[in-house]
Amino acid sequence: MTLSEKDTLYNWHPYTQHKTAFPHPVIIKGKGALLWDENDKEYIDGIASWWVNPFGHSNMFIAQAIFKQLTTLEHVLFGGFTHEPVIQLSEKLSQILPSNQKKFFYSDNGSTAVEVALKCALQYFFNKGEKRTKIIALEDAFHGDTFGAMAASGISFFTDSFQGSLLEVVRIPVPTAGNEEKTIKILEDLVKTEEYAAFIFEPLVQGAAGMVMYSATVLDQLIAIAKKHQVFTIADEVMTGFGKTGKNFACDHLVQQPDMMCLSKALTGGTIPMSVTSFTQDIYDGFYDVDVNKAFFHGHTFTANPTGCAAALASIELLETEEIQNNIKEVNKHHLAFEQRIKKHPKVASTRVLGVIFALEIKAEGKQDYYGTLRNKLYSFFIENGIILRPVGGTIYILPPYIISSVQLEKVYATIEKALEIV
Ligand SMILES: Cc1ncc(COP(=O)(O)O)c(C=O)c1O
Repeated sequence: MTLSEKDTLYNWHPYTQHKTAFPHPVIIKGKGALLWDENDKEYIDGIASWWVNPFGHSNMFIAQAIFKQLTTLEHVLFGGFTHEPVIQLSEKLSQILPSNQKKFFYSDNGSTAVEVALKCALQYFFNKGEKRTKIIALEDAFHGDTFGAMAASGISFFTDSFQGSLLEVVRIPVPTAGNEEKTIKILEDLVKTEEYAAFIFEPLVQGAAGMVMYSATVLDQLIAIAKKHQVFTIADEVMTGFGKTGKNFACDHLVQQPDMMCLSKALTGGTIPMSVTSFTQDIYDGFYDVDVNKAFFHGHTFTANPTGCAAALASIELLETEEIQNNIKEVNKHHLAFEQRIKKHPKVASTRVLGVIFALEIKAEGKQDYYGTLRNKLYSFFIENGIILRPVGGTIYILPPYIISSVQLEKVYATIEKALEIV
């Protein structure tokens, strides 16, 4: 039996209707921005394997840090014990995150980072004896697949089956150009009711919605309104964090500082699943009491795993190098040049660029389904041509590893241009 046949026999893949799915390429190695399958076919990873891998596959610097940690202290429980890598990592995060972020809670992935933030917001008010049990979120958001994260996400086929079993969440329009005033007004009316514990958002870019972008100015206004009414602001930087928007964090484009931040994906450079939720001192103090019942009774077995922390420390060290900062600028420069070249194409409705993120909207009749015919045709075309891109409906986006070469990037652009001819 081939590896691919065995995969079909045993494995249940995410977001996959196996009855209609094609067999998945079996990837056997990766280096830099490239991946190779079992037939030695080469792929350019145009989306950094779901946005986790800024420094390239099989990165030796991170690998060595992991090896050193694995052979020193691979894991120790974080309940009742602590260790040097997590202390160093929290210290580092406190230096690079907005200055009001003082306390760090570790978990395993983006969804659990969001879950922690939402639970903290709700329990903070419970601890104070205030009844604030609802959450505000943006339409079409994606915050993950656990129950709290699903509740805060937009209503779609991802969450349809679970409506009725979820937290109470009110969704407000995404404040894209032209929608700013409407969103501000709706938020102002909601927060006055004092029923809401938190307002959660993907700052500046809604990734899974198809890299939908909105301005830092309007987000500053929304955060200020929520804060004025003691509604906690949660910046879900799971996708945007660690350089994607051209700055370390999307929140670095803001004047306001959020109360909580969720980080994962690129945190460990695409090596070890890990996440952090960061908090202001005020939120931490809402749990700090002689009464044990006011503690935050939440934890995961692998919380603050030392090997994950070592990987994160190495990743952040790389992020801060001049070389990587230049790579980010280079990718952005290439995207802007490609945008100029492609935006007048008769099949392109619009384009947008922020940092290393490029997106274009294809002109098509009506709204395109997330996993519709157009999307599937494009996806297959890219895979056939050795490019990993996952269009969302009629949106094609690129979010490559920062170390991608200009030749590789040009190949991605040229393949997108060819794809426009087949739609
Ligand atoms: C903004 C955002 N939050 C949360 C998540 C969930 O992260 P994970 O898949 O690691 O649970 C994602 C995943 O794409 C995301 O983009």
